[in-house]
Amino acid sequence: MSTPIIAMRGISKTYGTGDSAVTAIKEATFEIFSGETVALLGPSGSGKTTLITMIGCITEPSMGKLSLNGEVVYDEKWLIHDERKLRRENIGFIFQAHNLIPFLNVLENVTLVPQMNGVSTKDSNVKARELLEYLGVGDKETKMPSQLSGGQSQRVAIARSLANNPKIILADEPTAALDGERALSVMQLLRKLAHEQNVAIVVVTHDERMLPLFDRILRVEDGVVREEQY
Ligand SMILES: Nc1ncnc2c1ncn2[C@@H]1O[C@H](COP(=O)(O)OP(=O)(O)OP(=O)(O)O)[C@@H](O)[C@H]1O
Ligand SMILES: [Mg+2]
Repeated sequence: MSTPIIAMRGISKTYGTGDSAVTAIKEATFEIFSGETVALLGPSGSGKTTLITMIGCITEPSMGKLSLNGEVVYDEKWLIHDERKLRRENIGFIFQAHNLIPFLNVLENVTLVPQMNGVSTKDSNVKARELLEYLGVGDKETKMPSQLSGGQSQRVAIARSLANNPKIILADEPTAALDGERALSVMQLLRKLAHEQNVAIVVVTHDERMLPLFDRILRVEDGVVREEQY
């Protein structure tokens, strides 16, 4: 068996203390492998965003152990020195549709993180153009985000999340702002990416129609995470 790209062991998260304490995730234990597409399902307030942002090292767990790509990143405390660097180099995030940087054009939005990682302008432009082409928005590179449709900006956001060759893509309701058909095509694209480029993709979704596109479903209910068989 290969090493899981994401491994959680008894991860819990409690916000606040005393009477106002809320345990948002309770002893989550699961593994996700490269090339898998995983849906995170569950009612509002069940803990999905908490879970996905812990995987992304944005939210600090309260206890347990988290490993990414075989490296223990959290074991009762962070074991990494620079979580922003870890994120930039390994993880792509896709949140809501309209989170492009408004004063940068499409190409600049996609090349920003690679350039922060020290990739040259020339190389990052080549890679960004390749991704934009692949996602069907190659002709939009000089447009500003405000000039794009919802579906186009979502594709640019996906290109941006892929620009640093992440091993893990985390998406929190990435298709919420899209109509049914566009939402489906964005999800199909993510699935294709996972399978062709061996990327692990974890997607929070409320949309039951998307479920056939996922390899696995994790259901979160009142902070308890369990694998759904289907
Ligand atoms: N920063 C915070 N401080 C205190 N409580 C929080 C914080 N973030 C989330 N919570 C609480 O933790 C629980 C889980 O929240 P979370 O945002 O993970 O749910 P969710 O499943 O993503 O919900 P939604 O589908 O509405 O986005 C909720 O009870 C919420 O009120
Ligand atoms: Mg949420």
